[in-house]
Amino acid sequence: MVVEGVHNFLSSAASGPVVQARDVHLGNSPLPVPHQLPADVRGFTGRSGYLEKLDALIPEAENHGDRAVVISAIAGTAGVGKTALAVHWAHRVRDRFPDGQLYTNLCGYDHAGVPADPDAVLENFLHALDVPAEKVPGDLAAKQCLYRSVLAGRRMLIVLDNACSAEQIRPLLPGEGTCLVVVTSRNRLSGLVAREGAERVTLDVLPLAEAVELLRSILGSDRDRTAILESLAELCVRLPLALRIVAERAATSAVPLTELVAELTDERSRLDALTPDGDEDTTAVRAVFSWSYRALPPPDARVFRLLGLHPGPDLGLHAAAALAGVSQAETRRRLDRLVGAHMLERHGRRFRFHDLLRVYAAERAHEDETATERDAARRRMLDWYLHTASAATTAVGHDSQLRLEPVSPGITPLTFDTPGQVATWYAAEYRNLEATWRYLVNQAWRAVGGRSGKPESCGLAEVGAHTRMVR
Ligand SMILES: Nc1ncnc2c1ncn2[C@@H]1O[C@H](COP(=O)(O)OP(=O)(O)O)[C@@H](O)[C@H]1O
Ligand SMILES: [Mg+2]
Repeated sequence: MVVEGVHNFLSSAASGPVVQARDVHLGNSPLPVPHQLPADVRGFTGRSGYLEKLDALIPEAENHGDRAVVISAIAGTAGVGKTALAVHWAHRVRDRFPDGQLYTNLCGYDHAGVPADPDAVLENFLHALDVPAEKVPGDLAAKQCLYRSVLAGRRMLIVLDNACSAEQIRPLLPGEGTCLVVVTSRNRLSGLVAREGAERVTLDVLPLAEAVELLRSILGSDRDRTAILESLAELCVRLPLALRIVAERAATSAVPLTELVAELTDERSRLDALTPDGDEDTTAVRAVFSWSYRALPPPDARVFRLLGLHPGPDLGLHAAAALAGVSQAETRRRLDRLVGAHMLERHGRRFRFHDLLRVYAAERAHEDETATERDAARRRMLDWYLHTASAATTAVGHDSQLRLEPVSPGITPLTFDTPGQVATWYAAEYRNLEATWRYLVNQAWRAVGGRSGKPESCGLAEVGAHTRMVR
């Protein structure tokens, strides 16, 4: 059924139009000023030494017209606050980059295991820089040349979040030192430091005083509580992600802080007993996650774990409602509560997990849902993506060649009136569409007896190739 449809869909994707590299004339109109930074972190605390270190890089960049690009590589463990620092600092200094700010999440540690393709990122950057789709070359090297030409002489700040390797970053570097690039990664990116002279900033967990300050910023500043806040901070191993989750729960709970500390200590002992040889910090963070998860109202906990089945980097309300199999209004309420509990992040109208929470949600989905319920949730979500992709392809005047079964009850795929609407939808969803195809190709591969290895990844879907022409 679905698998057969996808096979047709993929084979037709191969024949989509290809825009060839050619001379690009961008005309004389002023280039737009993109402002792609995500919202600043609410209640950002501490890190003053790191902020100063990053500040010190800017004057160099200003005099750098004919020298190398200034790159700052923020490294550190998951949840330590790399993205928060990069985004907060970028907001602080964005006025010094009057030509704009570019941002992308490279998904280096995405649960789906599919880092963003620099080719697709360049395409999106060029789009943000107002290069018409028909002038974007098909080939990566040509795209890179065009990107460097467009950025030449401009003062832009480029934030490349969550990179997995220097190789992933290199095609995204501008050619001249008028731009400043900030990269975050769990890796140390030694290649980038050695070859491109990147300045490495290694983030550690918060010092105890800053960890307590973070808790206070959410819980209020009652001086008498210092000792108990210190215990709470240590139970969170002073990791910002864990501190935020615990603080949000403590702020909304009627239970006194001392009892919450006792509960969290019990949870930690329970996990210690389950994995006696486990790494202490990992166990501490897992204890925070499970303590918070178990406190969620059951319908919210269900949405949390079902979102862990989503194969792509982020999702909108419609896809979340399809996964959950409840109305959009109900889904919105549950998502809002998860965001309030800091178990989910909201970026504009999209939702995403921190990568550690994504892994945890997927684990919960496998432990706390039956295989039948998981399959049904995936089926609803795939229905939504496939039927919406089919509607998008039809809306830009092509036969999608998808043979889909009727949509599952309660699922409402989007409809489109104009190619512009299709292009907007595609820009938000292309990574999810790729992840969906990849998931389905793997299913098909298994269905025909494939055991080891995976088939080639399928590249951009047909709808992507067509929308490149219209946006
Ligand atoms: N200095 C800080 N002040 C307040 N909250 C922070 C700080 N650093 C991180 N956080 C919060 O901790 C969580 C994890 O931070 P994040 O930057 O996503 O980690 P990383 O990118 O290192 O995995 C986020 O929810 C973020 O809002
Ligand atoms: Mg991050």
